[in-house]
Amino acid sequence: MAVIPRLNELKPTLTSWRRDLHAHPQTAFEETYASGFIATRLKEAGIEVHQGMAKTGVVGTLKGKVPGKGKVKAVGLRADIDALDITEQTGLPYQSKFPGKMHACGHDGHTTMLLGAALYLAETRNFAGTVQFIFQPAEENEGGGKVMCQEGLFEKFPVDCVFGMHNWPGLPLGEFSALTGPCMAAFDVFEIKVTGKGTHAAMPHLGIDPIVAGSQMVNALQTIVSRNTAAIDQLVLTITQFHAGDTWNVIPGDATLRGTVRTFSPAVQDAAEAGMKRVIDGIAAATGCTATLRYERRYPATINTAAETVWAAETAADVVGEQNVHTDPPPCMGSEDFAYMLNERPGCYIWAGNGPADNGRMLHNAKYDFNDDLIPVGASYWARLVERLLPVE
Ligand code: NI
Repeated sequence: MAVIPRLNELKPTLTSWRRDLHAHPQTAFEETYASGFIATRLKEAGIEVHQGMAKTGVVGTLKGKVPGKGKVKAVGLRADIDALDITEQTGLPYQSKFPGKMHACGHDGHTTMLLGAALYLAETRNFAGTVQFIFQPAEENEGGGKVMCQEGLFEKFPVDCVFGMHNWPGLPLGEFSALTGPCMAAFDVFEIKVTGKGTHAAMPHLGIDPIVAGSQMVNALQTIVSRNTAAIDQLVLTITQFHAGDTWNVIPGDATLRGTVRTFSPAVQDAAEAGMKRVIDGIAAATGCTATLRYERRYPATINTAAETVWAAETAADVVGEQNVHTDPPPCMGSEDFAYMLNERPGCYIWAGNGPADNGRMLHNAKYDFNDDLIPVGASYWARLVERLLPVE
C-alpha cells in the first residue's frame, strides 16, 4: 500500500484522537465535543477555522503553496461528525462516556481521517488552490448536510467539486469502492391515518374496522413494488409501524401506519408516492373508512458524477493499487445526506474497506468499532486527492 509515510508516522496520534472522539459521542446538532476538538486541531495546524455553520459544523480553509491555476481551483472534502442513539456494548477501554449515545457508524473515524489529511496538507501545502475541510453535523436522520447547504456552505466556501467517504464493513481493509451515478438511495417516510368507526368487537357490522382496512393496505402497497415498478428499477417500500387498538374486545376507531420508501430515480419515487395514494384511497372507498397519506421526502439519492468518480477511483488506486479499487459495486439502499452537497456541486462519495463485518462490526450495531488501521489509508486518499486535483506543476 502506498500510504503516505508521514500519515503512517502520525497513526498513533490520530488513533488517540479517534478514540477520544469515540468516547465522547453526541447526536444531531449537539456535537459540541467533536466540534471543539476539530476546531482546536485545525487551529494548531495553522488552518483558518470557521465555526457555527449548522450549529456544530466546522469548516477549515487551507491554501496551497501557489494559487489555483487549473480548471479546478478549490476542492471540498467532507466528513460527518455525529453519533447515534445506541447504548454501546463493545466493552472497549475507550467506549462511550455518554449514556445512550455511540459512534456506531464510524463518524469518529471519518473525522479523524480528514483531520489527519488536514494536518499533512498544512505541513506540506503541496497543492495549487484551496481546500475546504467540511466537518458536517447531524448526518443521521436530521440532514445536517442540507442545513449547511441552506446556510450557504458553497457560497461562503466556494469549491468546484466536493468529495465524501464512508467506511464500509465487509469490504476488506485496503480496498475502496466508488460507483458512478446513483450509489445510495433516496429516503422518504410516510404516515397513513385510517379512520373507521369504533364498535364492540363482537358486533363488527355496527362499526367500520380500521385494522382490516389497514391490513389490506399493508398487503396492497407491496404490489406497487411487484406489479407497478419495472423489475430493473430499484424500489423498497416497507411498513415499519402499525398502531391500533388497546384491548381485547373493542374495534378501535382508527389506525396509524408508518414506513419508508427507498428509490434511486425521481420517476420511480414519484410513481411510488402516486401509487400509494391510489391504493390507500381505493381501499378506504372499498371499506368505508377514510384515510390520509402524509408523504415526506427526506434525503435525495446520492449521485456521483462521472469525471469526479474517475478522479476518486484513480486516487484510491494510487494509495492501495488498482486491483483493490472497485468501480462497479452494487448500489446501496441506505441513504446519506452528502446527497445535498452533490446536488450543488459535482463530486464522489467513496466507500473505504473497514475489514470484516463479523462479531457485530456492522454499521449501527452496538458492537461496532471503527478500524484504526483505516486511518492512514483514508487520510492518504484525502491528501492525494487534493494533490492530484490541484497539482502545483
Ligand atoms: Ni454513517
